Amino acid sequence: MDSKLWWILVILILIPKQGESKRMILEQEECNPEDLKGLTSFKAGIHLDSSNRLEAWVGSNCCKWVGVYCSNTTGRVAELRLPGFLETNETFSQTSMVGWLSPSITLLTSLEVLDLGWLISLSGTIPSSIGFDLPSLRILKLSLNNLTGPIPESIGKLSRLEEIFLDGNSLSGQIPSSIGRLSQLIFLNISNNLIEGPLPSEMSSLHNLQSLDLSFTRLNISSIPKWLGEMPSLRRVFLAGVGIQGNFPELFQTTPSPLLELDLSFNNLIGIIPEWLGNFTRLYKLNLSRNSFESKIPSTFTSLNDLGVLDLHSNMLTGLIDVVFLIEGSFPGGTLTYVDLSDNLFSGEILEIGTGPQTTTVFLNLSNNYLQGHFPDSIGRLVSLRSLDLSYNKLVFGLPEYLANVSSLEKLKLQRNRFTGEIPNGYLKLKALRELDLSDNGLVGKIPDGAPLSDFPRSSFSGNIGLCEKPLSPCKF
Ligand SMILES: *[C@@H]1O[C@H](CO)[C@@H](O)[C@H](O)[C@H]1NC(C)=O
Ligand SMILES: *[C@@H]1O[C@H](CO)[C@@H](O)[C@H](O)[C@H]1NC(C)=O
Ligand SMILES: *[C@@H]1O[C@H](CO)[C@@H](O)[C@H](O)[C@H]1NC(C)=O
Ligand SMILES: *[C@@H]1O[C@H](CO)[C@@H](O)[C@H](O)[C@H]1NC(C)=O
Ligand SMILES: *[C@@H]1O[C@H](CO)[C@@H](O)[C@H](O)[C@H]1NC(C)=O
Ligand SMILES: *[C@@H]1O[C@H](CO)[C@@H](O)[C@H](O)[C@H]1NC(C)=O
Ligand SMILES: *[C@@H]1O[C@H](CO)[C@@H](O)[C@H](O)[C@H]1NC(C)=O
Ligand SMILES: *[C@@H]1O[C@H](CO)[C@@H](O)[C@H](O)[C@H]1NC(C)=O
Ligand SMILES: *[C@@H]1O[C@H](CO)[C@@H](O)[C@H](O)[C@H]1NC(C)=O
Repeated sequence: MDSKLWWILVILILIPKQGESKRMILEQEECNPEDLKGLTSFKAGIHLDSSNRLEAWVGSNCCKWVGVYCSNTTGRVAELRLPGFLETNETFSQTSMVGWLSPSITLLTSLEVLDLGWLISLSGTIPSSIGFDLPSLRILKLSLNNLTGPIPESIGKLSRLEEIFLDGNSLSGQIPSSIGRLSQLIFLNISNNLIEGPLPSEMSSLHNLQSLDLSFTRLNISSIPKWLGEMPSLRRVFLAGVGIQGNFPELFQTTPSPLLELDLSFNNLIGIIPEWLGNFTRLYKLNLSRNSFESKIPSTFTSLNDLGVLDLHSNMLTGLIDVVFLIEGSFPGGTLTYVDLSDNLFSGEILEIGTGPQTTTVFLNLSNNYLQGHFPDSIGRLVSLRSLDLSYNKLVFGLPEYLANVSSLEKLKLQRNRFTGEIPNGYLKLKALRELDLSDNGLVGKIPDGAPLSDFPRSSFSGNIGLCEKPLSPCKF
């Protein structure tokens, strides 16, 4: 083609039609050049974005880019939000970004919110100059990525920081003592990293800190420092798998702020679960699982009126479990939705399940104990139950008939007990049941014919000498 003609064609295409000209001008607007450079470098660091959000990062008005929010006063980028876990139209999807976190992210000097959490494969380090370059930062979310290196010392300069989520990376080194200067900090989650001790005592001046999670790090806090129990706003304490030794830490007895959540699981705690825990009347979640506690569940637990989640599994706890179902509860039916007492030395007959104030339980695991006697029909009152595990106990007599009323039941594990008699016909009403194990009991007679019972594999019923019919062999009588 003649080159003159070609140029005319180009010009014709480029001349905007009337009415479109205004839009063209808007599209040509540029965002702050430093912001543009920072975001362009960020994009260049990512080789693969399964959410395809960065694909639409073209042109030079970065304020219009997906995940980027500019201040309408300064025009500077104030928020970069590209979380990997997405909610669109009430459906959730997990996306990922493979690549490096560009250090040029620090060019976004007006940034208040940086949310690059849950991108799974985002690698690299937290830029060491972050504290000097992003003075307005309030929220820093880099959870569940592949970041390495230390938490920069300069982080202590970010005096407006309210939330730090660095959990689920491979960050190493110590927590910098400068973190104690973050007087606005409310949430701190460093769990699941390679962070080592000691814990800087400067953290004691985090007066606004409400939620602290240091679980599954290499901190090796053999005893919890005293100042932690004196932090004025602390309400949620997660110190799972950090090597705590000895008796239940006394320092929690006198915390200035009433504890709402306490997780000391996966440590080396011994001795008794103290009576005074019953004074934590606002406690919602207690996880003491995987320690070596040797005591009864204190009778004072009946005062834990707000308790929703109780996980005491894998200890050496003894006595009756009934106290749990006698917790008063702030609401009719109680608040307790999740109870795991499995893998302990509990014994005796269960009398209060379903007859006590607590009837809204969804998950109940009493497996691997020495529970004896008749399992009460009152279990039928736990109408929200989805998972019931009573396996590996010494329960006798017939299967509870009224369990048939718990139509929400999805998992039923009763294997390795001494249940006798026939499988109640009413169990055919358990239409939500997806997992069933009745093996190794003394059950007899015909397996009730029909869904869902006859659809389970033979292994669900094996080890019951007297059982017959589908899916086992036909009855001989
Ligand atoms: C900036 O935007 C916010 C929210 O969209 C609005 O409430 C506020 O009035 C705007 N400020 C100015 C100066 O336009
Ligand atoms: C979400 O729903 C809206 C309206 O119902 C629809 O226009 C849009 O395409 C949907 N988006 C996705 C990602 O499904
Ligand atoms: C994490 O980063 C390392 C290099 O630091 C790399 O070898 C590895 O493949 C990355 N893993 C993922 C899941 O991206
Ligand atoms: C901290 O992050 C982990 C995920 O890495 C999460 O399971 C935990 O609930 C978080 N802790 C708090 C207190 O939010
Ligand atoms: C953790 O600390 C205890 C006591 O301070 C020490 O005996 C132990 O060796 C440490 N463990 C590790 C893995 O560093
Ligand atoms: C309690 O802690 C254990 C071990 O850390 C964990 O596996 C379990 O999921 C926790 N329970 C609840 C209810 O969060
Ligand atoms: C528990 O609270 C009661 C009164 O509420 C108090 O008398 C008792 O000393 C407290 N127990 C402990 C061990 O703090
Ligand atoms: C109940 O606890 C036992 C032992 O802790 C565990 O093996 C089992 O998977 C749990 N059952 C359910 C349904 O979670
Ligand atoms: C279970 O349902 C039966 C009727 O199918 C009823 O007679 C019985 O009272 C119910 N039991 C409980 C504990 O709700």
